[in-house]
Amino acid sequence: MEKKVAIIYFSATGNTEAMAEAVAIGAKKAGGKVLLAPVADVDPNVIGKEYDYILLGCSAWGIEIIEEEQMRPFCEKLKPYLKGKIMGIFGSCGWSRGAWLNSWYNELHFAGALFPAPPVLAYGYPDEEGQINCENLGNMVVSAAISHE
Ligand SMILES: Cc1cc2nc3c(=O)[nH]c(=O)nc-3n(C[C@H](O)[C@H](O)[C@H](O)COP(=O)(O)O)c2cc1C
Repeated sequence: MEKKVAIIYFSATGNTEAMAEAVAIGAKKAGGKVLLAPVADVDPNVIGKEYDYILLGCSAWGIEIIEEEQMRPFCEKLKPYLKGKIMGIFGSCGWSRGAWLNSWYNELHFAGALFPAPPVLAYGYPDEEGQINCENLGNMVVSAAISHE
């Protein structure tokens, strides 16, 4: 069966966007049919209904939070669909140790999402190692089996 994968991101200056592109490479290598899009371009109801694999990227904002104008409302609308979804998250930051990704992870996990791999963080524009980490994230998430219990 075709694996439909949504890779949705918020990126102000292109850093998380570059991570999303690397995640997409890994997801495609694992056999995924990938939608790669900025969060402003997609409807959370469509993503929630039509995709079993959802990878979200967002840079660190405010004081260690996800971006609030676009990604926050998108996530709130997506949450009712998350039970049993296979997910991964990633994002770029300036100096954080990952607090915004950890709280985001907990929130999505609490909403019912399953995470085959931990969040992936990069500082600024992802270097070669950062891009490999993203590719591995895409690959691991899309390689995970869906449980239809
Ligand atoms: C308003 C604002 C708030 C930010 N807050 C944080 C923060 O809390 N922690 C952090 O590590 N970086 C923070 N940053 C830095 C960005 O996360 C960083 O520049 C990131 O690489 C931007 O990625 P993007 O181009 O994908 O949006 C902030 C930047 C701005 C402009």
